[in-house]
Amino acid sequence: MKIINVAGARPNFMKIAPLMDAFNAAENIEPLLVHTGQHYDKRMSQLFFDQLGIPEPDVNLAVGSAGHAVQTAEIMKAFEPVLTGYRPDVVLVVGDVNSTIACGLVAVKLGVKLVHVEAGLRSFDRRMPEEINRVLTDAISDLLFCTEASGVDNLRNEGVGEEKVFLVGNVMIDTLLKNRSRADDSTILVGLGLEDRKYAVLTLHRPSNVDDPGAFGRILDAVEVIQREAPIIFPIHPRTSKNLRAGDLWARVETMSGLRLVEPLGYLDFLKLTSSAAAVLTDSGGIQEETTILKVPCLTLRDSTERPITAEAGTNTVVGTDTERIISAWRAALAGRGRKAKTPPLWDGKAAQRITKILCDKIQV
Ligand code: UD1
Repeated sequence: MKIINVAGARPNFMKIAPLMDAFNAAENIEPLLVHTGQHYDKRMSQLFFDQLGIPEPDVNLAVGSAGHAVQTAEIMKAFEPVLTGYRPDVVLVVGDVNSTIACGLVAVKLGVKLVHVEAGLRSFDRRMPEEINRVLTDAISDLLFCTEASGVDNLRNEGVGEEKVFLVGNVMIDTLLKNRSRADDSTILVGLGLEDRKYAVLTLHRPSNVDDPGAFGRILDAVEVIQREAPIIFPIHPRTSKNLRAGDLWARVETMSGLRLVEPLGYLDFLKLTSSAAAVLTDSGGIQEETTILKVPCLTLRDSTERPITAEAGTNTVVGTDTERIISAWRAALAGRGRKAKTPPLWDGKAAQRITKILCDKIQV
């Protein structure tokens, strides 16, 4: 079975790593890795390939950054000849980024079977570009692999045939569990002069937060208070950095001595940093899942989550962007009033193996 695996943006890399491992170990699978180049900075891409031992991509489409229409279109244009040349049996896409839907569309229009890993997640907020990517990718996929039961329910409610949908666990957690002890050796805490559980981590990159000065300002109002109570380490995403430096908010950030901006971190340093934090404040999707496994309180700075299991069973609290709510959730987390976390079903490090087995059973070549 020839499988083209697609990765494009940072959160894809930790998902594709265990799949490439499992496919390479399977006798009857011939995997090819295509990097769309949606993310291209060393710290957003190559660092993850190096640290996670992901094979060099067989093809790099090198599309780079652009608006949604141009980026999606450029990926489609560049991906089509790869498919017609290689003629795979399957295209596998992960997550919800523009690379996911772009390559998915090309595959189905050429009659190639499409597999979506991390299917069925829904925030029910169609203002998020990722929500559009999720709904559309799921609608055209032949096999859909879900991380949590809500994903299976959502797909059923959208009329996706039961025979296509499988609850398999979480490939991103496969990567976390595999690398946790390696991350323990990271010297990031020493390097930044941090004490275990005495600091917070902040990540922001959602357009609804960082492209909107109102929302960004409300979050910074809370950050201003919190950084007086504990240092906040803020690995800054390129989109966020650009917006911050271009607008009026930069002057405010510079006055906050407890807020420490650092470059985007590699996988192992970031895992160490989050594992030892008092709490993580974030608008990322994946970090909600990672903190649940790490049993570190996560305050999600959005109004919704597409990963409800992290709030029901895990350490996640969906806080929104109201300043007072963020501050009180932070204080509750510090006081240890965060709920005890349970590990979601099947988040056990074996999701990629389950996917491999199902692909071998279900896809006839
Ligand atoms: C993308 C995904 C988002 C994911 C996020 C993780 C979409 C619609 N969005 O958002 O779901 O959570 O990645 O990071 O696919 N840039 C660089 N260097 C890079 C990449 C980007 O400087 O390597 C800058 C560019 O100025 C670019 C901007 O960041 O315009 C945004 O990049 P883009 O890939 O469009 O979206 P993200 O915000 O990263």
